[in-house]
Amino acid sequence: MKLFLASGNAHKVAELQELANAASLPIEIVSAKAVGGMPEVAEDTGTFVGNARKKALALRAKLPAEAWVLADDSGVCVDALGGAPGVESAYYAGPQHDSAANLAKLTAVMRDVPKGMRGAQFVCVLVVAGPAGAEEIFEGACGGELLGEPRGGAGFGYDPLFVPTGFAQSYAELGEEVKSTISHRARAWAKLAEWIKARDTR
Ligand code: IMP
Repeated sequence: MKLFLASGNAHKVAELQELANAASLPIEIVSAKAVGGMPEVAEDTGTFVGNARKKALALRAKLPAEAWVLADDSGVCVDALGGAPGVESAYYAGPQHDSAANLAKLTAVMRDVPKGMRGAQFVCVLVVAGPAGAEEIFEGACGGELLGEPRGGAGFGYDPLFVPTGFAQSYAELGEEVKSTISHRARAWAKLAEWIKARDTR
């Protein structure tokens, strides 16, 4: 099965293809670039599902009727901030999508929030859109707490600030090997993988 990825990020194609290969899934991830580029999409629906759907349908509209498209949206939702930055995680500190500035802002905003009130969860939504309006939504979440100061050098984005439940180290200290078994993205992906496997044997 070919899945066209509704993203302008080349790194995501490689990452998702690796996940597919690791799960022995019979899929080929194809970049939006290979089919003329990802159309400009305003991520303005206010929800992870809405934004992912919008990206999937925008790319699908450019492709043949039988094509299947995959889109994702993700972010960190902080309890003490009423779920912010949430869908705005990528541009929390401004439209330049600067991850170091985003991390610094969240660290500063949370500085005076006491331990015990620092709960947060990462969320990842994957949407698959196919022929005749076919659509599947897979959601994964990973709960935990935010540290007072960033710790660890691995990963990206808010990884150094987030300690998943059941662990003493941040995502950035745990590294990809552990993160890829417990993360919001891994959990959403596991559901997508189940769906692909079931579909393949139907
Ligand atoms: P997206 O590419 O629109 O899904 O943006 C997601 C944003 O959420 C990223 O720019 C990061 O700021 C944040 N984010 C999502 N997943 C992770 C993660 O696994 N670690 C750290 N930050 C993440």
